[in-house]
Amino acid sequence: MSHDHRLPMAAPAGVYCERRAKRATSLGRPLVLFAGHAPARNYPTNPHRFRANSSYLYYGGPPVENAALLIEPGSDGQTGVTLIRPPAGPDDALWIGEPLADETLANAVDLPVASLAPPEGLTKLLNGRKAAGVVAPYPGTIRWAQQLSVEPANDDELLAIIAQRLIKDEYELVAMRRAAKVAGVAHLTAMAFTRPGKREADVAGAFRMMLESEQCDVSFTPIVTVRGEVLHGHGHPNTLQDGALLLVDAGAEEPGGYASDITRTFPVSGQWSEIQRQLYDTVERSLNAATAACVPGKRYRDVHDLSARVICEGLVEVDLLRGDPDDLLARRAHTLFYPHGVGHLIGLDAHDMEDFGDLAGYAPGRTRRPEFGNKYLRLDRDLEAGMCVTVEPGIYLVPAIWESKELTEPLADVVNRDKVDVLLRARFGGIRVEHTICVRDANGPEVLSEMVPTNADDVAGCVGKA
Ligand code: GLY
Ligand code: MN
Ligand code: MN
Repeated sequence: MSHDHRLPMAAPAGVYCERRAKRATSLGRPLVLFAGHAPARNYPTNPHRFRANSSYLYYGGPPVENAALLIEPGSDGQTGVTLIRPPAGPDDALWIGEPLADETLANAVDLPVASLAPPEGLTKLLNGRKAAGVVAPYPGTIRWAQQLSVEPANDDELLAIIAQRLIKDEYELVAMRRAAKVAGVAHLTAMAFTRPGKREADVAGAFRMMLESEQCDVSFTPIVTVRGEVLHGHGHPNTLQDGALLLVDAGAEEPGGYASDITRTFPVSGQWSEIQRQLYDTVERSLNAATAACVPGKRYRDVHDLSARVICEGLVEVDLLRGDPDDLLARRAHTLFYPHGVGHLIGLDAHDMEDFGDLAGYAPGRTRRPEFGNKYLRLDRDLEAGMCVTVEPGIYLVPAIWESKELTEPLADVVNRDKVDVLLRARFGGIRVEHTICVRDANGPEVLSEMVPTNADDVAGCVGKA
């Protein structure tokens, strides 16, 4: 592996060669993977951090802006592979440091130096041929692909990439364990930092500080909120009040690009109220049942339905729902409280391969169920060893749901609306608990995020200790 800090490759060089060779066997036309470039708001030389496109990284593209990787059909991973490397600008050494030496770049990704070429090299090599592309969604990259007449890869071409990327190898797992561990430490730090009188922003800052010190980035904008019922709510405007729940949904991206995604919810004061504790325990039971069910051969949609069944049981126990849990599940009564899916793929992105839409998340022939709640499930494949997914059930009191006659009237006979209204008036918020896992064997998955406790007493014990 390379020792230049600008080339934090997750795998040994030869692994990238194998991945390219495997992809090339079923290629019918050249494939161009674009790295993309750093987004800037106005002044291009003050950009945000550059993060190369995930498919480009997977096949051994080094993290170099405006680079691209060409793979010819039938390539052995080296012959017929070209790494397009834009020339260094005259002032680059002054402003951004010495350019990477060709040998360093080539060695890191198992290509001969002769396989490196400037952008004109790609124009010459394609020579008017139609190529398939995976185009990072940045203006300069889109323009370049259009100039080259590169077409977006079709479904069959993408499915071949998806099939490879779905199953994580040992190197990817090492990177994912690191991303989970760094995020785990950051979560524990954030919990320890939480107490009444602090602000959401203080807790978010504590989380980010730990990531920075481990040279990791956030894998998405952290959600740190006392309004956990806003499922992906951003901004940290609130001060933490005694009695409130704080939801922290945040993950790390390690330098090679692999992500973790972890959620914990806990009382700001370290003390659960009775109803908070009851509903938390239900979410944790759902999490544990769904996590244990993630074994090879299991349909992920059934994992979702199992998690929802446990939520129904718990909602009956606290008299928020009334009836038989199986009937409630069949009528989707849980969606009033648990309106999202149980999780998604994770890997080189927190939502791995969601740039391919449902082609990655849904097995061929499967489509999303159309109804409220169920339609938000992002994954419906049969699980296989090596797949990494999240498991993230929740219970929320969402005012907009309870204001909707369309959603609530058909279920009015099974809902204890008086109790719902009490919780809404108290601004209960929401509870979500999320693991990042790797599917292993029939004994159950590897829980990459297990260092952050989920048991209600253990979680409360982590709060306010800093
Ligand atoms: N944080 C985004 C998610 O959990 O899916
Ligand atoms: Mn999350
Ligand atoms: Mn998630």
